[in-house]
Parts: sequence; C-alpha cells; structure tokens
Amino acid sequence: MVLFLVGGIGTKVVLRLANNSYQFRTYSSCLKMKKGLVLGVYETDNKDEVVLTPSASKYNELVNGKLLANINLSGPKIKKLKTRIFWGLDDGEHACVAVVGLGKRNLGINLLEEIDEKRENIRSAVAAGCSALDAVDIKEIDVEPMGDAEAAAEGSILSTWIFQEFKNKSKQKILPNVNLYGTEGVKDWQLGKIKADAQNWARRLADSPANLMTPTIFSQTVSSVLSALGIQVIIHDKAWAEEKKMGSFLSVSRGSIEPPKFLEIHYKGASPSDMPIAFVGKGVTFDAGGISLKSAGSMDEMRADMGGAACVVATIKAAAELKLNVNIVGLIPLTENLPSGSATKPGDIVTAMNGKTIIVDNTDAEGRLILADALCYAAEFKPKFTLDIATLTGAIAIALGCAATGVFSSSSELWETLRGAGTITGDRVWRMPLWQAYNNRMTKHVKSADLNNMPKAKGAGSCVAAGFLREFASPDAPWLHLDIAGVMGPNIDDVSYLQSGMAGRPVRTLIQFLQILSA
Ligand SMILES: *[C@@H]1O[C@H](CO)[C@@H](O)[C@H](O)[C@H]1NC(C)=O
Ligand SMILES: *[C@@H]1O[C@H](CO)[C@@H](O)[C@H](O)[C@H]1NC(C)=O
Ligand SMILES: [Zn+2]
Repeated sequence: MVLFLVGGIGTKVVLRLANNSYQFRTYSSCLKMKKGLVLGVYETDNKDEVVLTPSASKYNELVNGKLLANINLSGPKIKKLKTRIFWGLDDGEHACVAVVGLGKRNLGINLLEEIDEKRENIRSAVAAGCSALDAVDIKEIDVEPMGDAEAAAEGSILSTWIFQEFKNKSKQKILPNVNLYGTEGVKDWQLGKIKADAQNWARRLADSPANLMTPTIFSQTVSSVLSALGIQVIIHDKAWAEEKKMGSFLSVSRGSIEPPKFLEIHYKGASPSDMPIAFVGKGVTFDAGGISLKSAGSMDEMRADMGGAACVVATIKAAAELKLNVNIVGLIPLTENLPSGSATKPGDIVTAMNGKTIIVDNTDAEGRLILADALCYAAEFKPKFTLDIATLTGAIAIALGCAATGVFSSSSELWETLRGAGTITGDRVWRMPLWQAYNNRMTKHVKSADLNNMPKAKGAGSCVAAGFLREFASPDAPWLHLDIAGVMGPNIDDVSYLQSGMAGRPVRTLIQFLQILSA
C-alpha cells in the first residue's frame, strides 16, 4: 500500500512493505510506481533545431540537459503528433518522459478550417503522448501545460476515457490517471478538466445500454448528480404531460411499457430577474423506430438517441461547476420508441401542446414529435432564447459526416457566437438553412392535419425536420436547433483524442458558448 503525504516533486510516500513494516521514501526511489510525463516540442523549418516548450525547457535544466541531448541523439525532428519516449532521465519523479510534437509554434485560428490550430494540436498531441505512455504500461501520467493548460487537460482527460463499466473488473482496461505537471496553468487545467469531465459524462450516459438507461433511470441519475450541485431537478410524470396536453410527446411513448418522464432543470447562476436560456434535449432512451421499424443492422446504436439530453445535462453540470453567471432551464422529454400493440401507427393523428395536429406518417421520425411539445413548454419560461439539441436525422450525417454539428438558427448573432465557440473547442458547428420552403414541405399538401411528421417528397431531410420544429418554437425569442446525429458516435478520423464509443459532442462547444454569453 502507498500513502501520499504531500503532492508535488519531492513528495514523501509511505510504503507498507511485505513484512508489514512501513518505510518513508521519496519518489525518486519509487520508479517502480512508473510515473510518466508528457512534454511538448515545436517543429521548425531547421531540421537540427529543437524548440522545447517553456515547461520542457525548465525540465531540461532540471535534468542537466539530458532531455535535449536525448532528443538530439534520436534525431532532433519530432513531427506534429509524433511521440518519443525517453527513459531514465532521473528527474527524481518520473520513470520516463514522452516528448510529443505540437507542430509549428505560434499557431492561431485557421480561418478556412474554422479551428484554433494551437489548441487542437495540443489536444491531439497530449492524447498521443498519453496513449504512448499507456502502451508501455504507465498509468500515472503528468502533463505539462503546453502553452494552454485547458486544451492539455481536455486532450488528456478525453483521450484516457472509455466506456467499460459493465465488463468484468479483471478484464477492464486500467485507464491512466492524468494530472497537471508543475504549478503553471492550474486554473486553466481545472477549466479544461470540468469541460472534459462533462463531455465524458455525456459519453457515459449515451453509451449506457437502453435497459440500464431508461427514462426513469436517466431521470434519477441526472437528478442525483445535479441536485448535489444545488441545481433544481423536477421529474414530471406521464400524468403531468397529459395535463399539459403534450399529445405529440406522449404518442411516441405508447409502444413502450417504460413510463415516459419529462425533466425540468433549473440552474440559477444569475439574478432571478434575468430571463433564462432554455435548453431542450431529445431524450429517446431507445429508438427502434416504432411501427416504422428500423433495420436490425446497427439498431443497438439507438441507445444513444438521448445524446441531446445527455449534452444538455452535461452542459448544465459544467455551468454550475464554473458558476456561470446565467440562468438556464433544461427541458428533456424522455421516452422509448418501440413497436407494440399499443404503439402509434403510421397515419395516426396526434395533437401537440399548442393545438397543432400532426399526421404521424413515419413513427421513426419521433424526435421532432417529442421536441415539438418541449419547445411549446419552453415558451412558458419566456426565455432569452431557446436551443434544442437532438440526434434528429440520418440526413445530417450524410451532409456533414462526423466533422460538424448542423445548426439551424433564427439569429445570426447567436449563430456567430456558437460558431466562434466551436472554433475554440475544436468541436465545430456548421450552419444549415432555416427557410420557409422547408416549413412548407411539412405543412402544404397535408390534407387531414396541420402538419405531417415526414414529407412525401424526398431530399433535405435535416432541413425539413428543422422546418417542422420551427412550427413549434416560439416566434417571440431567437431559436437554435442543433442536429447531432452525425457527431453522436465513433468518429472516423476527425477527432484523434476520442477513443471508440459515443462521443458526447458538442458538449464543450455548448459550455464555451455559455462562457462567451455570460462573460
Ligand atoms: C544538438 O545538436 C545540435 C546540432 O547537431 C547541436 O548544435 C546542439 O548543441 C545539440 N544540443 C545538445 C543539447 O546536445
Ligand atoms: C471475472 O473474471 C475473473 C478472472 O478471470 C473470474 O475469476 C471471475 O469469475 C469473473 N467474474 C464473473 C462474474 O464472471
Ligand atoms: Zn427515430
């Protein structure tokens, strides 16, 4: 057993030896604990030149130039995101050091790519460093600030997390524990950690299997986590939704024996007179498609059809931890969408909270049905603006792949703010058109009701879904709709610092958005 007395270099540790006696030791004699360190190096045009980060430079002095000498010996050029591991530099604390290439120094925002390349390189490089150390069985990893400790924290905390809690403990991968090296950037590291932890929570909620993340379990889980932060969480039941005349939402839950829930969350970080921002998240805890049954192929992925709900609660959690000066009301309709004898059938007509009638021509277009009522309810809070987020359409994945979240916005100003947030976080957004033509596709030529939930004509699947929602969003306040179906799951090679599984995107962009708005 090892007990730590104080943190930092020169820490004394207490070891309990086999004969049950105790011994004080310093880290330097504890290399069998195998702590590792990630340091950064920049690329220059001169192939013999090695440019260390300030922290790596200091470290080089600490080990009497051994770091530079070793880099020199191994061929000085370390390309972007490449890693080299050096053992036995004798800093008294770490068994080995992973030196990672950060790319060019003094990078900034790449306008064409709409990304802050400096930050994104740090996230990816740190992830490469942690992965290299992990591969040689180093499970305690210190990471230097790399010139932006927030990005360094994000890269390391996101990249060292995977969803594995239901595996036999003895078969679970031991995930590295990452910490900031040194005393610089402590606050920024903490900020990055809050954001990355929030995203990891969204990943966990989304990846949890549907039988263990029902509307009831989701409500209870979120309530216990957020209540502990002083956030008010109200779990409304089916009777409440009936009273509210949420016929559109309830029509989706008819096929399941799991009772629907409707979460109402209040985070109050600003004065009570300050109008809230309304966040609406799609919470379909499993989507089989209903009577319009999906094909079996990757139906299991539909456990993550509550990704929008996960993003909302994770963002609110971070807002509270960051004590953001803003009021937020989070609204989350939760249900399963299953086929059964009591399920809604294609052609059924349902009535939403605002009295509009909808023909449900395709029961697999259920996200818009539950969001319709949630958007109506959002208007009751007279929000500054409403933002809904949903794994809504496969069409958005066809349009944008997993590179960006599709955003439909009635406000160019809010859109620009959100876009700026995505540039900073690297989890980018792309604007899609919110034009009357798309509303018309959902309302015209519908004979027996006000809207159809699926237009007869093909094409523009994401845009017509947004057009549908627009019929329910309050015209009195700006509205943004985020379609995250494309960024929901494993990415191909867009984000190197996320391992497999549900991605929890774009939680950090939403947090950044709130930071900018509340600054
Ligand atoms: C590394 O190599 C370069 C070029 O060969 C040399 O100028 C420099 O002094 C070397 N640095 C160290 C620390 O060995
Ligand atoms: C978990 O794995 C260990 C080691 O292989 C095994 O002894 C144990 O029975 C497993 N537990 C279960 C519940 O299967
Ligand atoms: Zn569906």
